[in-house]
Amino acid sequence: MDKKVLVVFGTRPEAIKMAPLVKELEQTPGFMPVVCVTGQHREMLDQVLQFFDIHADMDLNMMKEGQSLYSLSADLLRGMEEVFQKNKYDMVLVHGDTTTAFIGALAAYYAKVPIGHVEAGLRTYDKYAPFPEEMNREWIGRVADMHFAPTRLAAEHLMKENRTRHIYVTGNTGIDAMKWTLSAPFTHPLQHKLRKDTRWILMTMHRRENWGEPMSHVFQAIKQLIRENPDIEVIYPVHPNPAIQKAVSDGLAGEDRVHLTAPLDVVDLHHIMKRSYMVLTDSGGIQEEAPSLGKPVLVLRDKTERPEGVIAGTLKCVGTDTRAVVKGIKELLFDPRAYAAMAKAANPFGDGTASAQIVSAIRNYFDASGE
Ligand code: UD1
Ligand code: UDP
Repeated sequence: MDKKVLVVFGTRPEAIKMAPLVKELEQTPGFMPVVCVTGQHREMLDQVLQFFDIHADMDLNMMKEGQSLYSLSADLLRGMEEVFQKNKYDMVLVHGDTTTAFIGALAAYYAKVPIGHVEAGLRTYDKYAPFPEEMNREWIGRVADMHFAPTRLAAEHLMKENRTRHIYVTGNTGIDAMKWTLSAPFTHPLQHKLRKDTRWILMTMHRRENWGEPMSHVFQAIKQLIRENPDIEVIYPVHPNPAIQKAVSDGLAGEDRVHLTAPLDVVDLHHIMKRSYMVLTDSGGIQEEAPSLGKPVLVLRDKTERPEGVIAGTLKCVGTDTRAVVKGIKELLFDPRAYAAMAKAANPFGDGTASAQIVSAIRNYFDASGE
């Protein structure tokens, strides 16, 4: 009988990174993937489902405006209870470190269904950075039966935490997704608005620990740089969270050559990244994607759980202090050697075959358990 694998996700980054895996499961004989989207995100999730042509079997439609971690977690747990009451599954796959992933794993544990954790083993070992993601991934790691680590370092973290069985180094499925997005056409009208003779800086910033002062310090840096350098343009697709929308509108709206947009379709985002001079971000996924395109990334955080990019030379953590951000950007704008040292295509996060490796590991797991 086909193995029924429940794939649970709900936010944009999870959707982007789970989509190639859903596709792989769909085309592998012996598996019956069932997609449950929690709807922790709405428009940002739907954009991804549409591009990858994924039809959710279940949609819990959980998003509420300005949702708190408490209410979201409670709603998700109740929603997942119904999912497990209605049907039986052979395995549940969750991704990374979101509330959807943590609650999905917790609910699967209550239902006593084996759990596979995709993008396992990332750590800063600082429980508030990133918040609440660092603890979410640690908790999932504690309860998961299969751990799909994107890199050797991530696998080592798990081994140090005494997870000794079923750890697989597969690369990150986000790199698989780029094969799809970059071979789709780039049609966003923004490309006609941006000048050809300017250097584009792609920026995103949404992490909870950066809300408030850190964000406004970064915005001050952007304003200073934009005023001093007529040949740069900033493209900032702004997260729809009302708290972030307000901060950006207070801090950056109306600035010349700062293009504030709604969240971009992932195809457009990847094409813009490919044409950008550099990237400024606190996003996790973007820290993995930009190195594979040879784009220097200044990370707007003090620590990263993706040190592989720092070691490869394409990522640098500049934090959120105005002066540090200005210095980091100026160095890349005016020091060709510093730029060249970072602008090298490196792909420490996988070779685009992570999904196939994960599916093959799951098949072996079922074969070995004799089911
Ligand atoms: C979540 C994840 C974070 C991930 C981020 C990716 C948790 C705790 N956080 O944070 O790890 O980096 O997603 O983007 O799981 N909203 C919309 N439309 C959308 C999506 C969000 O309007 O499509 C607004 C809603 O008002 C919502 C708010 O954003 O309440 C916050 O969304 P939420 O998923 O709780 O947090 P994120 O900051 O997006
Ligand atoms: N992304 C996107 N549109 C945007 C901004 C980001 O498609 O406007 C993609 C990005 O390429 C990456 C993922 O969303 O694949 C990262 O999501 P996000 O930064 O929201 O979350 P994180 O990775 O920090 O959890």
